[in-house]
Amino acid sequence: MSTTAITGIGLLVTHDAELGEIRDAALVIEEDRIVWVGRSADVPDADDASDLDGRCVIPGFVDSHTHLVFAGDRAPEFEARMSGRPYTAGGIQSTVVATRAASDDELTGHAATLIAEMLASGTTTTEIKTGYGLSTVDEQRSAHVASRLTDDVTFLGAHVAPPEYADRTDDYVALVAGAMLDACAPYCRWIDVFCDHGAFDVDQARAILVAGHLRGLGLRVHANQLAHGPAVQLAVELGAASADHCTHLNEADIEALAGSATVATLLPGAEFSTRSPYPPARRLLDAGATVALATDCNPGSSYTSNMAFCIALAVREMEMTPAEALWSATAGGARALRRDDVGVISVGARADLVALQAPSPVHLAYRPGVPLVAATWKDGQPITS
Ligand code: NIG
Ligand code: FE
Repeated sequence: MSTTAITGIGLLVTHDAELGEIRDAALVIEEDRIVWVGRSADVPDADDASDLDGRCVIPGFVDSHTHLVFAGDRAPEFEARMSGRPYTAGGIQSTVVATRAASDDELTGHAATLIAEMLASGTTTTEIKTGYGLSTVDEQRSAHVASRLTDDVTFLGAHVAPPEYADRTDDYVALVAGAMLDACAPYCRWIDVFCDHGAFDVDQARAILVAGHLRGLGLRVHANQLAHGPAVQLAVELGAASADHCTHLNEADIEALAGSATVATLLPGAEFSTRSPYPPARRLLDAGATVALATDCNPGSSYTSNMAFCIALAVREMEMTPAEALWSATAGGARALRRDDVGVISVGARADLVALQAPSPVHLAYRPGVPLVAATWKDGQPITS
């Protein structure tokens, strides 16, 4: 098996408790894994070498919340919002129409284009949700498409009730927790429910999440995005891996998250694109909650695939330090996906790395909008765009 040494790393940010940050660093990759990390001066012999000329290296971004399987776009809806129209869950329906009309190849091609966009901007792990099919056949198609692009597929049949179930949401809940779950579970690792104003109530969400748990899926919840409600508490009560959005939180929600293993996944692209108040990241961190940052990439509330943009928002708008934001966009995302092989640079971890055209990752927020990703490696392979 061949090895590659990456040397000349000006600053290596590992997120490994023992290794910390290393100046003048190097690492060695064998196949898809990191097999050595240390000072450049001590690097062992390897079959190949690549010198980074002082660039900074960080773990690849872990985007733990996306909705990449869809067709169409909603630029007119965004444009209307910027003129004062509020964001509502109802906009999802127009994407459902376009997604149902698209072929599997069209859905796969579009999602793969977004994944390529993400790799080019340093994202090496991506969770993908279904949720724009909302019929058994279209949710299963979406789950199948997603499973060709990631190991972290989430069944979100409970995004909203589709129009054909408008007056009988409980029937839709029974479908989601029954035949639709049966059809999608083989492709999925996770189940999620949009438990919020205009979507599903707490009893409906609980029924669907419990059904998913009994099918062996891990739990995630779209919680407290549009209004304050019981969704965060439900996520904690059920031991969900993540409560996502967390825009409207009271002290009891913050305490519950801080005292649990449920990660608070914050999605500042959604607040940016819906012109909403940002989630209380500082209060969550000060209380001791684990915070992840993700893009929420979707055509309605947050059509960005760029984790560096989310880091910049988190630092500028949510009072996170640059170091906290970077941790949340890498190791925090890994926690939200209950993975220990990504989001960290250590011996045995996946060789998912980003070299920045910058002396330190502070530049991700300091130079917002600038494409600082000089090179990305996923599973030990350099990504060429
Ligand atoms: O996470 N909140 C629910 N779902 C998406 C938005 C979906 C849409 O508007 O198409 C979100 O923001
Ligand atoms: Fe979402």
